[in-house]
Amino acid sequence: MMRMQCLDRRRFLGVVAAGIGSALVGCGDGSGSQDLPRISTATPQLFPEGQSLRSIAPLRNDSEDPSRFEATLAATQESAPLVPDVATSTFLYNGRSPGPLIELREGQHVRIRLENRLAQETTIHWHGLPVPPDQDGNPMDPVAAGATRIYEFDIEPGTAGTYWYHPHPHDATASQVARGLAAPLIVRAADDPLADVPEVLMFITGVKLDAAAQIAADDPIDWTVGRQQEKLLVNGGRLPVHSAAPGTTERWRIFNATASSHLKLSLEGHTFALVGTDGGLLGAPVEGLNEFLLAPAQRVELIVRVNAAPNGRYRLRALRFETDFLNLGTYQDQDLLTLVTANALPVPTRALPSTLRPIADLGTPSARQRVDLDEVNGLCTRTGAKTAFLINGRIFDMNRVDLVTSVGRIELWDVVNNTAMAHPFHIHGTQFQLVSRQIGTEVTPAPYLAWIDTVLVPSQQAVTIKTRQTLPGKRMFHCHILEHEDNCMMAILDVQAS
Ligand code: C2O
Ligand code: CU
Ligand code: CU
Repeated sequence: MMRMQCLDRRRFLGVVAAGIGSALVGCGDGSGSQDLPRISTATPQLFPEGQSLRSIAPLRNDSEDPSRFEATLAATQESAPLVPDVATSTFLYNGRSPGPLIELREGQHVRIRLENRLAQETTIHWHGLPVPPDQDGNPMDPVAAGATRIYEFDIEPGTAGTYWYHPHPHDATASQVARGLAAPLIVRAADDPLADVPEVLMFITGVKLDAAAQIAADDPIDWTVGRQQEKLLVNGGRLPVHSAAPGTTERWRIFNATASSHLKLSLEGHTFALVGTDGGLLGAPVEGLNEFLLAPAQRVELIVRVNAAPNGRYRLRALRFETDFLNLGTYQDQDLLTLVTANALPVPTRALPSTLRPIADLGTPSARQRVDLDEVNGLCTRTGAKTAFLINGRIFDMNRVDLVTSVGRIELWDVVNNTAMAHPFHIHGTQFQLVSRQIGTEVTPAPYLAWIDTVLVPSQQAVTIKTRQTLPGKRMFHCHILEHEDNCMMAILDVQAS
């Protein structure tokens, strides 16, 4: 049975505070003050706010054969006008951030060419898709500066869902994503039960500029608790406006592509129905939600029935979320977007199907694995941070195998967070199912079956997931706070042919 370690809370505070206190005064000169100041970033001027929500242009399919998807993505370094009269150096996919929307169909064969025109190595990782390990863009397969490679894989039936793509080079994922490399990917099914509900895509990223209006480097606090004080953008725009006819029913696909922001989503004047998670639709809608916590890297599909009153304004917000005992995080209430209803008569309500797509339980597990998340001083730390986070007591080593499984084996994984802050835990190569959450000895079963590839493990809690890998090879598993991932909170699962 699972064992929950109940360690002394003050010990964590000590470890984290010691790390940050000394980080802020340079290397161990011991003169740190007791308060823990946030390093403030004076942003010269904000992006234009309040424009219409942009749509993200799709990547064109160069193949005439509809069973194939062929395209080129170029990663480039270009300056972008984020702030008036200043050229900010950014990294872009095909000249844009977010990069182009990749729309695929179940059963398609995909062939995407990456041209790396950056002055550093990169990869493209197809977050959440079950592609073969050698096509997964993991850190073992870097694409050198100036080089080109082709990623090629099949989109299996049953994978319809909401994914995204981002670079995953060793030690540089956080900085490349922060400079703009991230984009949405949607897999569609021929028999989507919600196909006739108008869809709105909201790809949320964060940007933090330094005093010279350049993308800020991570500071010691960022390296410790995740990137702080990012301004949240939706489809690349700041506080955009989304207009809808009163009473319309819409399907919102929301992506958390930020480095570390936990988005407790709420929409003024509305409840919503949850219909899909990372790996696609639920068995049935979950109605009447006021909030949905979208952890870093997660995606969600919500059905919003727009308020029937004309001329309304409703903010989509991320509500305050405490990720750590020290309250170092700045996950205060933040606005994301404003929903505006037109001056028009309400459109009639649309009924939702009562069932969506069946989800079968993965089945009876034949093995159980344990993953402990711990924190420690002084190992594998960056830029002045003194605290590092470990998986099963170790820092990441690309040449080591941490856990072993075999193709097709159904396993329970107990992920136990012994640290002072929450970690969004991600496994490559598969979608898994949450079984239960545990606080102390109290176990709460998952309220519904859902396909996810990232699960939030709050501080001092444990989660049990059911997982299975279908292809042999090495898979990464890690915390998806990008600073933690680059700061050694990553490990390798060896999937052996059975
Ligand atoms: Cu988005 Cu290794 O993951
Ligand atoms: Cu991934
Ligand atoms: Cu973490």
